[in-house]
Amino acid sequence: MVNQRLLTLGIESSCDETGVGIYSSEDGLISHKLFSQIELHAEYGGVVPELASRDHIQRALPLIKEALIDSNIRLEDLTGIAYTAGPGLSGALLVGGSIAQSLAWGLGIPALGVHHMEGHLLAPLLQSDQPQFPFIALLVSGGHTLLVEVTRIGEYKILGQSLDDAVGEAFDKTAKILGLGYPGGPALAKLANQGVKGRFNFPRPMTDRPGLDFSFSGLKTFARNTYINFPKEKANIAKAFEVAATETLTIKCRRALEQTGLKTLVVAGGVSANISLRSTLNDMAKKLDVDVFYPAHEFCTDNGAMIALAGHFRFLSGQRNDHYEISIKPRWSLEELQSV
Ligand code: KG4
Ligand code: ZN
Repeated sequence: MVNQRLLTLGIESSCDETGVGIYSSEDGLISHKLFSQIELHAEYGGVVPELASRDHIQRALPLIKEALIDSNIRLEDLTGIAYTAGPGLSGALLVGGSIAQSLAWGLGIPALGVHHMEGHLLAPLLQSDQPQFPFIALLVSGGHTLLVEVTRIGEYKILGQSLDDAVGEAFDKTAKILGLGYPGGPALAKLANQGVKGRFNFPRPMTDRPGLDFSFSGLKTFARNTYINFPKEKANIAKAFEVAATETLTIKCRRALEQTGLKTLVVAGGVSANISLRSTLNDMAKKLDVDVFYPAHEFCTDNGAMIALAGHFRFLSGQRNDHYEISIKPRWSLEELQSV
């Protein structure tokens, strides 16, 4: 264990958001900054990896500078730099990795590549009301849908995952079918608010058989076919999609909780911002006497604060990488992580 005051800079650049955060062992999160590339990619209807990398290069250093000024910290005060090493887009990850390793080398402090999904998973620990280990984590983002049994930080057992599209991806693709903008998740959720529940009934994929895996690509096809037949009922289609997706996630969470006997559920990742998902999960949890924890709204989607926090826990346990090699892992399973 390290006793000195730790000041960890976190850098997130795995996809279309440049995020930085500074986490202090004494004062918690002291600053975080985010630049979203939504406008940049909107005209293409999805993330263009090359444009994402170029933009991360332009944004990262000014954001770091802003975060330092904001928290009244000098660059030399930092004790470690954490960056998202994966999973994510290679070029985008390399930007965060290069900046983190170069800065750390210049300052003579360690840099550490952390797992993006561990960042999401730990984001609720940025709040004062924190989940206690062990717990079940439902991680729902644009790239992943995972049900994880979490014994402690770094000890993760994947109980279930999506066999095709991630749930956020299914939100985005369905939104695109309905002619909504990018990213589609929030736009689809907004439209669904105007829809009537029960007008259309979409399937709850893979809930009629045992197991905790998911499949969301069929829902998008169901939405497309319904839209072809009922082009004037966009809001009702959005509603039917959202209800089916959220109920499917809830059924699998209930199963995971019952199967393990755990009484705490953590829900994180971009889709955890969805109000309808939160309300369905909260109802289920109440019946099972389970406590549910979500990140603050701003830390559901990608951000640098969660990367600073994940890095902080790892530096605290003495993990460090002194070789300053710019290593990334575009494909990386949570189960490969070292426990802390
Ligand atoms: O965690 P995140 O920012 O990035 C990845 O790691 O992928 O998640 C982004 C995903 C996108 O698919 C986006 O449409 C979805 O989260 N999302 C939502 C909502 N807010 C973001 N989906 C449904 N309802 C929302 N309110
Ligand atoms: Zn993410």
